[in-house]
Amino acid sequence: MIKRCFILIAATALFCDGQLVDYFLPEITKATREVVDGFTKTSLVTLASQASGDLVSEGVRALVRLPETLTRALGVGNQLPGLLPDSHINVIGVLDDFIADYNAGLGNEDATLDIRAIIRKYGYPLEEHEVITEDGYILSMFRIPGNGSAVFLMHGLLGCADDYVMAGPDSGLAYLLANEGYDVWMGNARGSKHSRRHVHLKPSDAKFWDFSWHEIGIFDLPAMIDSALDENDTKKLKYIGHSQGTTAFFVMTSEKPEYNAKISLMVALSPVAFMSNVRSPVVRLLAVGTPFIHGFVKTFGLYEFLPDSSVMRTLKLFMCSSGILSNIVCSNVMFMMAGVGYAQFNFTNLPVLMGHTPAGASAKQVAHYGQGVLTGKFRQFDYGTTGNLNRYGTEVPPNYALEKITAPVSLFYSEADWLAHPTDVDKLYNRLNSAVDIHKIPYQQFNHLDFLWAKDFKVLVYKRLQMLLTHF
Ligand SMILES: *[C@@H]1O[C@H](CO)[C@@H](O)[C@H](O)[C@H]1NC(C)=O
Ligand SMILES: *[C@@H]1O[C@H](CO)[C@@H](O)[C@H](O)[C@H]1NC(C)=O
Ligand SMILES: *[C@@H]1O[C@H](CO)[C@@H](O)[C@H](O)[C@H]1NC(C)=O
Repeated sequence: MIKRCFILIAATALFCDGQLVDYFLPEITKATREVVDGFTKTSLVTLASQASGDLVSEGVRALVRLPETLTRALGVGNQLPGLLPDSHINVIGVLDDFIADYNAGLGNEDATLDIRAIIRKYGYPLEEHEVITEDGYILSMFRIPGNGSAVFLMHGLLGCADDYVMAGPDSGLAYLLANEGYDVWMGNARGSKHSRRHVHLKPSDAKFWDFSWHEIGIFDLPAMIDSALDENDTKKLKYIGHSQGTTAFFVMTSEKPEYNAKISLMVALSPVAFMSNVRSPVVRLLAVGTPFIHGFVKTFGLYEFLPDSSVMRTLKLFMCSSGILSNIVCSNVMFMMAGVGYAQFNFTNLPVLMGHTPAGASAKQVAHYGQGVLTGKFRQFDYGTTGNLNRYGTEVPPNYALEKITAPVSLFYSEADWLAHPTDVDKLYNRLNSAVDIHKIPYQQFNHLDFLWAKDFKVLVYKRLQMLLTHF
């Protein structure tokens, strides 16, 4: 039943794309114009108020030029990468196989079960812990207790602890570690679905969302790590971060260097610090629109990152071909931002991933990354000259002092990662005094989210990870 409805919705969307385009044209052209002008003029903000009668004809011309304009402006190579091959694919039948895989996964109840139920269903013990940060956020942590040393897992942007169990009992990182007896802790950053509480603020308050990964690094991680160490009565733990889970770690250990002593090893899966070479069209576009997004969000009193913006809808038009699978994948902002490397992507598991992501984030987190893309610096949030002077005493925000990091760090990266580009990872590696390992995944099409859910996660990531964990 659910399955039928889903397909029906997808089919309706397809039909609408084709038949009702006239109805949507004004919307589309408006969105398109916003995007195009964003590159030719300085600010997207001025645009939003420029609605006028020649919008449609202008828009249609823009629509035709857009992919080229976008591609050039975004610096993503010769072509805007598609999110999925769909109709462009030349191997007949491959797409049908993906769809068949997807349909086979539709009955999987893990798509609707909550993380607690999933972990228990697969026979693992579960504890839930609560910590309160210095600035009042109430965070949940999940733990699969074990007798071995403690391993702390930290998710990326728009993710949460669910990231580490969604792949299922055969390759979910939390299970693999628990099977070896590790004491597994999974953090949840403020704003993500398990940590949307505060001692006096509510998520409906704008103020609740006034944070970026800087605060996750200086408040959330220390609170969660201290709590895990306390419970386990040990002095050190092993930290495994994915994407923003690595960014926040680098913030913590450079801003609060005393935390280095609490980490016996940090494993960075797809490390994100320097971002000049980010390939994701969505992230590059959001970067260009950073002042716009932040300003817009502020005006409307909403600080949560809400992915249903005109910018997002416009990009969908160019990155997503029409097709059932495209419609599904393109409805999830996490896939839109990170890309789907379909060679390692398990389409049977897609319904489960859709059921658990995105988990929530603030607009400021995205804006802070946007600043990194534009400036090429790994530094604190830019509030503009006056704001920076007030806050930091300098006109530009201070860089994070990577040289203060002394905990052993191991970097895993890949060639096809839309977010952690090999050149940026190299730069990070060279700045770190305590890097103990750098490893490129020996698989050409390995992408950002494959570090969580790749079909061959065990062989391509876990084998080496396991070896490192036993050495530190
Ligand atoms: C941990 O050790 C205790 C006592 O040594 C034992 O009863 C328990 O089953 C062990 N737990 C695991 C998960 O191995
Ligand atoms: C971690 O905590 C569990 C449960 O309290 C305990 O059984 C285990 O021995 C601890 N592990 C270490 C290494 O202290
Ligand atoms: C793909 O996902 C399905 C559903 O979660 C799972 O049963 C299967 O083992 C996965 N396949 C691989 C190769 O990991």
